[in-house]
Amino acid sequence: MAITIDELANFCKRKGIIYPSADIYGGLAGFWDYGPIGVELKNNIKAQWWKHHVHKREDMTGIDGSIITNAKVWEASGHVESFCDYAVVCKKCKNRFKVDENELAKAVCDKCGGEVESKGKFVPMFTTQVGPIEEDATLAYLRPETAQLMFADFKLIQDNARMKLPFGIAQIGKAFRNEIAPRNFIFRCREFEQMEIEYFIDPSKKEECPYEIEDIEIKVLSAEMQLKEEEPVPMKLKDALKKGIIQLPWHAYWLSSSLNWFKSLGANMENFRIRQHEKEEKSHYSTDTWDLEYNYPFGWKELQGIADRGTFDLTAHQNKSKKSMEIMDDASGKKVLPMVVAEPSFGVERAFIVFMNEAYTIGEKDNVILKLNPKIAPIKAAIFPLIKKDDNMVQTAKDIYKNLREEWNINYDATGSVGKRYARNDEIGTPFCITVDGESEEDKAVTIRNRDNGEQKRIAIADLKDTLRKLISGETSFQDL
Ligand code: GAP
Repeated sequence: MAITIDELANFCKRKGIIYPSADIYGGLAGFWDYGPIGVELKNNIKAQWWKHHVHKREDMTGIDGSIITNAKVWEASGHVESFCDYAVVCKKCKNRFKVDENELAKAVCDKCGGEVESKGKFVPMFTTQVGPIEEDATLAYLRPETAQLMFADFKLIQDNARMKLPFGIAQIGKAFRNEIAPRNFIFRCREFEQMEIEYFIDPSKKEECPYEIEDIEIKVLSAEMQLKEEEPVPMKLKDALKKGIIQLPWHAYWLSSSLNWFKSLGANMENFRIRQHEKEEKSHYSTDTWDLEYNYPFGWKELQGIADRGTFDLTAHQNKSKKSMEIMDDASGKKVLPMVVAEPSFGVERAFIVFMNEAYTIGEKDNVILKLNPKIAPIKAAIFPLIKKDDNMVQTAKDIYKNLREEWNINYDATGSVGKRYARNDEIGTPFCITVDGESEEDKAVTIRNRDNGEQKRIAIADLKDTLRKLISGETSFQDL
């Protein structure tokens, strides 16, 4: 059953996943706090992304840059001048929202279709001052994207990590935008996190992508198709490249790699599509951009952008800082100014909605089962003594709990009936429940239950850790136990 975004927000609040920030004071629009379950899910999403895109690759390294940096970074990047939103307000229902400059003239209210009035141009960067004494203070910005320090620190990173073209730099971190209309739960926030990659190549090798494009079929909507008001067409990414719909092999490759990450964590590809930016829609730095879009409870919207930023940023920082950003390319023996052929960039919050939406399932008893992939599940297993007054059962369950906690986030639950304990854990996505019962002392085994279908198996306590490891990693399926 499909869940609305408001139902998802209510569910998240009830289950300690996400709350409006400082809810006791009425919250603050666009700011959210992650609760005990939410912080685990968010950390797991970020860890899985880092593993897939950084640790598993030889051509990738990472940084963690500061949120506030020298304002010259944002002058050079063009954000101070060109990173603008246009605010409009509906004359009828007073709804406020943002539009792109090219949409301003023909904009109508996105809620009631009413006539709108322009409220002017805004730079959505939050400003602050560095230094407590006002007359000595320096103006600074809270970063609106994580990308820029991967450019400003480019030479140091390349040198320190001894990277050779083609290579990428990845970063996960907070970003801030003073959005005109934060909305749709955590879809558009004022404080959010990005997971970004800047992938650098020799500009003369734009056509040479050495990596395999995953065999993924996806709905494709090019700029031309949008102009002709055509519907998206499902096709293999490889075919979209062959037909020239996607021009660069690097774009097809990075789209496939991003989609593959979602797929590897259980997302249904039917809910994804790729859409090329139309001419007027592209950011000030981009020559071609493909968005990965998701069918959210409120419709198809951007999940991730993959922009070709060219040499825009390194050139801008080179010019402003008067420091060369060129590197020696061993393959050609020449100095080159690398270009960013692809910038896969997306918000952790949007991935969070995707995984929650994909996982949210209603069981036979109208109960919620959060079918999260075990790799990202906040709690990997829950341990129960069948009878909480039986000292032997409690001791065995606590020993197992202590042992498994060494490796994972584990729940110990002795309250209420076993049925209630299952239901409680199903709702927060715990993939496996382990019960110590009257037989356990004798057969040195426990019952393990699969969240997704309620199936149960008997398993030796001595094998539990190894089995759980294989189940979480996907090396073994529950049926094969
Ligand atoms: N460095 C490129 C860049 O920042 P963007 O399209 O402005 O490009 C990239 O943002 C991604 O960041 C988006 O696709 C989206 O997933 C996420 N994002 C942007 N603004 C957001 C907001 N206000 N709230 C949550 N996520 C946001």
